[in-house]
Amino acid sequence: MKNDYRQKLHLEPQKGWLNDPNGLCYFKGEYHVYFQYSPDSPEGRSAKCWGHWQSPDLLHWRFTGTVLFPDHPDDRNGVYSGCGFVKGDTLYLFYTGNVKEEGDHDYITSGRGANVLLVTTKDGVTMSEKKTLLKNCDYPDYCSCHVRDPKVWEEDGRYRMVLGARTLDDKGCVLYYTSSDLYNWEFEEEIRTPDSGYMWECPDEFVIGGQRFLSISPQGLKHEKYISQNVYSSGYLDLSSGVYTEWDQGFDFYAPQTFDAPDSRKILIGWEGIGDIPYTNPTVGYGWQHCLTLPRELTACDKGKVLQQPVRELEALRKDSKPLNSGGSLDAELPFEITGSCGDEFSLTFEGVLNLEYSSGEFALVFLSKEAGGGRTARFARLETCRDIRVIADTASVEVYLNGGEKVLSSRMYPADTNIRVRARGLNTVLYRLDGIEVISDE
Ligand code: FRU
Repeated sequence: MKNDYRQKLHLEPQKGWLNDPNGLCYFKGEYHVYFQYSPDSPEGRSAKCWGHWQSPDLLHWRFTGTVLFPDHPDDRNGVYSGCGFVKGDTLYLFYTGNVKEEGDHDYITSGRGANVLLVTTKDGVTMSEKKTLLKNCDYPDYCSCHVRDPKVWEEDGRYRMVLGARTLDDKGCVLYYTSSDLYNWEFEEEIRTPDSGYMWECPDEFVIGGQRFLSISPQGLKHEKYISQNVYSSGYLDLSSGVYTEWDQGFDFYAPQTFDAPDSRKILIGWEGIGDIPYTNPTVGYGWQHCLTLPRELTACDKGKVLQQPVRELEALRKDSKPLNSGGSLDAELPFEITGSCGDEFSLTFEGVLNLEYSSGEFALVFLSKEAGGGRTARFARLETCRDIRVIADTASVEVYLNGGEKVLSSRMYPADTNIRVRARGLNTVLYRLDGIEVISDE
């Protein structure tokens, strides 16, 4: 069937532009996913709002529309990224209100208001009045006007907030604030690491199995073969050692956020996209652009590393399975999933579209035509051994999980047809057809 690029497994807007996931939480029996949304411009040119989906089970979603608009003096040029914090029967949404002053400004050292605002909601959709909590004058004087993306959590009987920032001398860092009531915040401390770019966006501090991590999306890192291959990077610092590990080594991953499921699983959702990319997404021509990643369960293994796996709920979408062994091929209809154990050297080929190959300690995701990748070429990951692989292929994206989620590569892909011939060499796998998730819309 001709591919219309409408995703079956990934959350995406019906029209307009999506970027970062915001306000992720489980609240009153439902998962809530807010997101950066420009409903009227697939290029993201109109002011940012927050759109909103909710779901009881991560499989059945309801789009409730745009729930936060830039309609306050302190957020008049954009309701930028932020988080959700649940306390009692109330969801607190903290976000950045972006303001651009008139005049001759560079909007880095002058002309930009980077305010922290708060709204509360009892149902996830109906919002309270907006309240401004922090303004530029509340940040350390060595910061530029690029301070944003609050993430709030509770720790030892007080509240903490982390914000991403760019200093006046172009260093990325995070700022920590503390509060006893969620409304009054005081500066605590700053963290930066050497050679880590000029700006850190979307910070998120979290603990798994007693290990403390700080997720950041740094801009301005040096591009290398196995790290920071994209225009902007996204990864986590192991806060005990300061070691930075990239979340995802594919073409399309940025600005992730974590939250807790009711059974205490730590779940991550990212933007399956990045700003300022040198490649394209042909959906723009149909009126929408970008999607979120699949929700991923995080676990910590030793050595300060985090493993990622698609949430187990998605296994309910498996329909029927067929073996696909080394030397064999199958015709498969998107969306599908492939899981298997690997040899020392292998390749999995989506004919005419994509090659996933491993040899001599290097895994590569390689597009086989300009059209199929929208101009994306190849991305690489270093792995001493590759024991297992799990691939989830949607109509217009692919997520590859290696060694139980030790390495992940996510990418948009644009095969012309939803039927793909898949060939395996050097690995034995099972291919599942997948049902889609259900998304209904109030709009
Ligand atoms: C990251 C980001 C955030 C900002 C938002 C604006 O992609 O630049 O830092 O709050 O997007 O849409």
